[in-house]
Order: sequence, then C-alpha cells, then structure tokens
Amino acid sequence: MDENNTVSRRKFVGGVAAAAGVLGLAPSRNLFAQTARMTPRDLEIARDTLDEYDAFAKISFNENPYGPPESVLKAMTKAFKYANRYGYPDGGITEAIAKLHGVSPDNILLSAGSGEMLDVIGTTFTQGNKKVIGVSPSYMQVYEHVTSVRAEAITLPLTADYRQPIPDLIKAAKQHYRDLGFIYLCNPNNPTGRIVTKGEVRELLDGIPADVPVLIDEAYHHFVDNSDYATSVPYMLEGRPVIVTRTFSKIAALAGMRLGYAIARKDIIAQMRPYSMGSISAVVKWGGVAALADTESQARVKKVTIDLRQQTIGYLKGLGYESIPSDTNFFMVHLKKPVVPVIEAFRKKGVLVGRPFPPLTEHLRVSIGNPDEMQRFQVAFKEIMGAGAVGAGNNGR
Ligand SMILES: Cc1ncc(COP(=O)(O)O)c(C=O)c1O
Repeated sequence: MDENNTVSRRKFVGGVAAAAGVLGLAPSRNLFAQTARMTPRDLEIARDTLDEYDAFAKISFNENPYGPPESVLKAMTKAFKYANRYGYPDGGITEAIAKLHGVSPDNILLSAGSGEMLDVIGTTFTQGNKKVIGVSPSYMQVYEHVTSVRAEAITLPLTADYRQPIPDLIKAAKQHYRDLGFIYLCNPNNPTGRIVTKGEVRELLDGIPADVPVLIDEAYHHFVDNSDYATSVPYMLEGRPVIVTRTFSKIAALAGMRLGYAIARKDIIAQMRPYSMGSISAVVKWGGVAALADTESQARVKKVTIDLRQQTIGYLKGLGYESIPSDTNFFMVHLKKPVVPVIEAFRKKGVLVGRPFPPLTEHLRVSIGNPDEMQRFQVAFKEIMGAGAVGAGNNGR
C-alpha cells in the first residue's frame, strides 16, 4: 500500500472547499455529506428551476424513476396526521425489517437513508485513528467521510475485469490489522455494477482476522438476478462482526424521503447507536412498512429495470461500445475516450448521466431510467458517440 492508494484528508477537504467556494457557502458538515456524491455541476443542477429539472432525463444517480407505488403513497399520506408529533405510532418499521431478515429488532438500526448509516459506521469504527480498507472506485462517500473526520482510507484497485480483488483485501487487512477499523465491501459495487460472489464473500470473511468488522453495503441487493450472489445477513447471524446496510432509496423509490438501516450484532448496534441522529420522519417510516409489504411492485420494478438495462447494453454493443456486465439498476459503458466532455454533451441534450469515476476515466455510468429516458439516452448517445464508431473498425475494443 503506498501513499497513492490513500485518500488524504487534505486532498478531500480541498475539493469540498472548492465546491463551497463556487456556491458561496461555508463548508458545513451537511455540505460534506452532500458533496461526497455531488459535483459542483450537480449542485448547479439542484438550483435549476423546477421546469428545467423536470425536463431532464435523469439517469445520473441510480434512482428509481417510477416513484413509490400507490400502496406506499397511501400509507405516507395517512401518516401526515402525525406531522406535528414527536411521539407517534410508527407502523412497526423496525419490527417489519427484523421480520424480513429473520433477526431481532435489537439487530436493526434505522437511519435517514443508508448514507447516514455509512457515516455512522465510519465514525464508530475509526475511533483512535483506525483505517478503512476497500476498493476504488466504489461508493466513495465511505472513504470521504472517514478521511474528513480523522482517519485514513486505504483503497485497492479493481481487477482487470472490474471485480473486487479478495486476496488483496485479505492481504491488506492482515498487513494493517493493528490499525484497521473496518473493511468496506459494496456488493454489488457502485459504480461498476459487479457483484462479489457468495464464495468470495466467504473467502474474505474466513481470510481476515475474525474480529475485524466488515461493512457490506447491499444498496442494490434488490436488483441482483445472479445465482452466484447472496446477501451477507446470515454471517451476522453466525455471530461475525458483519454489518449489512440496506436502503429504501433504490427499489422502493424513496430516495427523497430518506430511509435506510443496518443489520448487525446487538453489541455492534449498541456501539453505533450514539452516533446516529435518529431523525427519520413519521411519513417515511409508514412508507417503509408499506414498501416492504408490496413485493409485487418491487418485482415489477426489478423486471423492467433489468429488461431495459439489457436492451440498452445491447444497443450500445451494436454501436461498437462494450459495457461492464451489471447486476444493478445502472451500468458502465466504455467510451474509448475521456468521459468528462461526453457528460457535458449529454447535459446539453437534456440527459443527465453519471459523474466521472476515476480511475475509470473512459467509462460512463448510466442509471436505468424509464423507457422514455432510455430512448432519449440512446438517441443522444448515437448523436454524440455513435457515428463512426462501427465504421472506424474499433468494434468491441
Ligand atoms: C452503494 C451505495 N450505498 C449507499 C448509498 C446511499 O443511498 P441512500 O443514502 O439514499 O440510502 C448509495 C446511493 O447512491 C449507494 O450507491
């Protein structure tokens, strides 16, 4: 592990300060959290007028384009009667989540989106300047939070086929054992969309010292259709220090409402709880309960998303562009040229695509929107990239 593989606190703070300067804002704690995922350009978009925002094809943030189903909207609407309360019936959200996973309510901690939980875990397990180890690119908020508070992130590169190098993670965990706070494994990984197989998860957990906490981020669990994949919740039930995080932002379409959670051993939840805000609205708690019950809607979203993903990947292949195989509601296509100007070209055509994910500087991350958005993406892609790609004889490279 050399210096190049660490995310330095100074470097990250510099980036945020620059973004804050653009906006004329003081770099508050909240801004740190937001800019972890948003570029200055994204922040500009957030200030666009409502009409402009609505008009964009929004395939940049791996959101669910369909919105919550009727059952969830109804439950949330009913819960507005608690808007003026601190203490109110919450629909039994913690119990419903516990039941879903076959665990006790003591094994669940709720958060305002799973993003809050990732910060909570980072803060809890890097006390005493401990480090986090994971891969890059991945969901960088984890490393950015840790380095912004005090600690250090050691990030390893992906394999040549964009997978997470399990033997290297094991080696790094052993090498840094004394200062290791936790390991981060995003499964499936964002931004690549690739899974860590169930065999690899076992290999990792059996290969590292038994007391090292492992955060397994399953934000995109619900989109996976691959028999080599399995949730890691059973490892927690075996008594291992595995913390699984889930979100209602993706399959349940509640990103703007903020609900996520962690599943972990009781003692680990107790360690994390003091760092969580517990600021979750009555409305989303009721929405979450209804979402868990509406498995039919989730199955529909999964199917249409996978169908559209495969159709879009096929279309791009026809134009001569290969994509990384994905098990999520997004994928990366190899542009064979720098991604930054292409992102801007898409924006000019009214299509918001993913930000750059260095070191994958020639890959574009495309979230799966609704059929109309994917049509607009395809038309724009052909205009920006398509002409000449096949004719130039670089098909597939
Ligand atoms: C891998 C991963 N984990 C966690 C999150 C956080 O999502 P939320 O805070 O909306 O639950 C995201 C958001 O895109 C993500 O991609």
